[in-house]
Amino acid sequence: MKATGTFLQSPVSKTLLAAALALISTASFAQAGTKLKIGLMLPYSGTYASLGNAIENGFKLYLAEQGGKIAGREVEIVKVDDESDPSKATDNVNKLIKRDNVDVLIGSVHSGVAMAMAKVAKDSGTLLIVPNAGADAVTGAMCAPNIFRSSFSNWQPGYAMGEVMAKKGIKKAVTITWKYAAGDETVRGFKEAFEKGGGTVVKELSLPFPNVEFQALLTDIASTKPDAVFTFFAGGGAVKFVKDYAAAGLKKTIPLYGSGFLTDGTLDAQGADADGLMTALHYADNLENTKDKAFRLAYAKTYKLQPDVYAVQGYDAGQILGIGMRATNGDASKKADFAKAVEAAKIDSPRGPFSLSKAHNPVQDIYLRQVTAKENRLIGVASKALVDPARGCKM
Ligand code: BEZ
Repeated sequence: MKATGTFLQSPVSKTLLAAALALISTASFAQAGTKLKIGLMLPYSGTYASLGNAIENGFKLYLAEQGGKIAGREVEIVKVDDESDPSKATDNVNKLIKRDNVDVLIGSVHSGVAMAMAKVAKDSGTLLIVPNAGADAVTGAMCAPNIFRSSFSNWQPGYAMGEVMAKKGIKKAVTITWKYAAGDETVRGFKEAFEKGGGTVVKELSLPFPNVEFQALLTDIASTKPDAVFTFFAGGGAVKFVKDYAAAGLKKTIPLYGSGFLTDGTLDAQGADADGLMTALHYADNLENTKDKAFRLAYAKTYKLQPDVYAVQGYDAGQILGIGMRATNGDASKKADFAKAVEAAKIDSPRGPFSLSKAHNPVQDIYLRQVTAKENRLIGVASKALVDPARGCKM
């Protein structure tokens, strides 16, 4: 007893002891063969199915680069198809935590589903990394030390495009979107910047998610005759909207702009109807930085597909998990150590390096892109190191 007491009084010895304990705890997780259980809750059916698949691909690419292990631990993935249905989300996430005993949650794509996940994660203290859904509240009023986002807030691309369109001298805009958090908040961000810059939103059109009966709304746009239209749609709905907009003859008369989800992961299906469209997002297809080049090459080799923004966000969810877990020596219960490491990290993303804000949302460049030859080509930076205002976050 006495010897231990004396030993602990020396700062050098304390450090050595801490290091030894850390090694023992890493070794015990690894040696005991306890797998790190990850609950991957994503849409694998419906209008956002391709988004869920791309996120999983990106995440698994990171995992493969780590030899299939995170902080020395083998990984077990438990997958759930959340169907982009918020009414099933609380049950789905509770099953992952209580029945499957996952250590970490990764999900989801749909803002309504992610808000339900964030509520459960906050109440239970489970680590959550959001690899797409932009719900402002996740890193706003619902922010928590154990919740992180590898993607964006809905406000970010909307705000950036509002600034761009106002600077272009566009005066009157109509907005059109799905009526749920992602659409509402993207439009709100757009309107905030566009009206600050001297523009006016003359009409806000919407339809319920995931409806794609756009005809009556397109007729309304034609008769309103704004200078431009701003929109949020994604996945299968974005494909149909871009095609219907062109088929209605509007593409030639009223320029269409969007948050970049309008044309990301959709260009093969949209074909020539997407040519020339300008959007704002935290990724583009020709960034050409070192990390992006390596990522695109590895992704194409592994999946025989070109990556999109969703694949990048899945990969970066993996990077956040890796950074946090290494700092805890593989112990997912050490959430304060996990958070401290992630908060201090500069994440080497294919989108360019980014860090997390105090509320745990990426502080990142939002790029202006234009569709050319089935690529979202970089035109410039719409908004440099844009920080989400994290309204209502107390952390
Ligand atoms: C969302 O619901 O937050 C969302 C869905 C698809 C793309 C972007 C955002």
